[in-house]
Parts: sequence; structure tokens; C-alpha cells
Amino acid sequence: MVDRVSGRTVLVTGAGQGMGAGIARALAGEGANVAVGDINVAAADAVAAALRDHGHSAISVGMDVTKREQVRAAIEVTVREFGRLDVMFNNAGLNKPMQFLDVTEENWNLVMDVNALGVLIGTQEAAKQMIAQGGGGKIVNTASIASRQGYAEFVPYCASKFAVVAIIQAGARALAGDHITVNGFSPGVVETPLWAQLDKDMVDIHAAEKEGDAFAAFASGALLGRAAQVADIVPTAVFLASADSDFITGQVMAIDGGMVLV
Ligand SMILES: NC(=O)c1ccc[n+]([C@@H]2O[C@H](COP(=O)([O-])OP(=O)(O)OC[C@H]3O[C@@H](n4cnc5c(N)ncnc54)[C@H](O)[C@@H]3O)[C@@H](O)[C@H]2O)c1
Repeated sequence: MVDRVSGRTVLVTGAGQGMGAGIARALAGEGANVAVGDINVAAADAVAAALRDHGHSAISVGMDVTKREQVRAAIEVTVREFGRLDVMFNNAGLNKPMQFLDVTEENWNLVMDVNALGVLIGTQEAAKQMIAQGGGGKIVNTASIASRQGYAEFVPYCASKFAVVAIIQAGARALAGDHITVNGFSPGVVETPLWAQLDKDMVDIHAAEKEGDAFAAFASGALLGRAAQVADIVPTAVFLASADSDFITGQVMAIDGGMVLV
């Protein structure tokens, strides 16, 4: 077993399924103490329980990332259990596609609240804890190819993910003096429950003929010729939580098989 994050305490939001769950499993497997955060408490409980069954150190924390007091409480529970917070993954996110001309204020606010405001709150509250314990720490935020390109049916999602890059850059500048790094990674098309839902929604808004078409069309944009699995994302996420990335801050690492070249 590689032990790059052994003994570190990490809170991962949106870790009840998909990429967050994969990241939580990999970190726990390398010896981290992991807090599995999710609004879906049953899903977070299941991920944490499975990790403990495998002899790893994990708790679950129910939390809505858009509610500052719940984010604070999740960090408090994590610190009470494991003594400190070393790494925060602000990973929770959602998409709700609409045709560009149909996008409503409600749709905009829903997506922006979770993906952008949630990441801001998570970055702020994690940093406050890291500063209170003496400084140092790592914050890793999940961006997207939609942080670099606008896609017709995803305008609030793209706006929210562009905002994640802004939070990463501004946060890196603001927190460097406290020895806290702020980075992110930008997946392309990853086969998770998010895409299963997105595929259905794309049919509902008449942007795709049948389920699977939107996924296939987006995945075909990868130079490497396929969609990603969670396993493609996890090693970079662990790298960003480890000392190997200590001299990197304010950066977004693309893990998209060559979809967006910047
Ligand atoms: N799947 C992809 O192709 C893809 C590509 C690029 C970026 N992303 C981003 O990666 C992250 C993870 O995506 P995924 O594909 O694993 O999604 P997913 O839907 O499989 O998992 C997301 C998790 O976030 C949780 N969540 C949603 N709203 C929340 C809230 N308000 N508070 C706390 N938890 C909440 C959900 O309950 C769920 O468990 C998201 O930020 C997403 O935007 C995904």
C-alpha cells in the first residue's frame, strides 16, 4: 500500500456516491481519516460503514453544502473525531440541464448555490479551521470541462464551474500566507450517477433522442477516445491531498482524456 496521506484527516463532500465516494475510498485506503459528507445521509453512512468494515478510519457527516452552519457543523464533527482537518474536498455538485432560452432564475439559483456558493462556503470554513489549528492545509475543489467551455444546455452549470476556478485562484492568493493551498481538478465525462440522471434529463428537454446519446456525444470529444471511470480521476485527487503537491497552488488539473486543451 502506498501511504501518501497516512494520518491526514480529510473531509470529502458529495462522497455518498460517484467521484466523491471513489476519492474517499482511495484516501482511506492510503491511511487517511476520512469524513464522508453528503446531503444524502443514508448514502454517506453506507460509504463510511463499508470503509470501517475494511478496517479503515471513517465517519459519515450529513451536510448540505449550501448551508454555512451545516458545513461548520460537519467540520466540527470531523475535528472532534480526528483532532484536526488537513484536507477539504469541495466536491458536491449537480447539473440540471435546460435549453439556453428556457433557463429560469430557479434553475440558475439551484445550480449556482450548490456548485459555486457551496464551494465558496466549504473553502472558507475549511480555511478558518486550518488557520485556527495553526495554518497549513489543502483545499481541493472539483471543477469541470464546463469550467473552461460554455455548453448550450448547461449555462448555470458552466457559470458555476467557471466560478469554482475563480474561487480556486482567489482562495490561493488569499490563503497562501497561512500556508494553505487551494487547487482543483477538472474531469471531462465520468461515468457516475450524475451522468445517468443527466442522460435522462437531456432526453426530457429534447436535447438528445434517447438515453446514452448525450453521454456518447460528449465522450466522443475526448482525444483518448472514451469516457472516464472514477478510477481515472482518483489518483490525481489523492496527489492533490498529498505532500507531493505541496508546491502547487491556484491550479486546476484537467483529467479529461484531452477534451479541453488550455
Ligand atoms: N460525472 C461527470 O462527468 C463530471 C464531470 C465534471 C465534473 N463533475 C463534478 O464532479 C463532482 C462529483 O460529481 P459526480 O459525477 O460524482 O456526481 P454524483 O451525482 O454521482 O454525486 C454527487 C454527490 O453530491 C451530493 N450532493 C448534491 N448536492 C449536495 C449538497 N447540497 N450538499 C451535499 N451533498 C450534495 C449528492 O447527494 C451526491 O451523492 C460534482 O461537482 C460534478 O459537478 C462531474
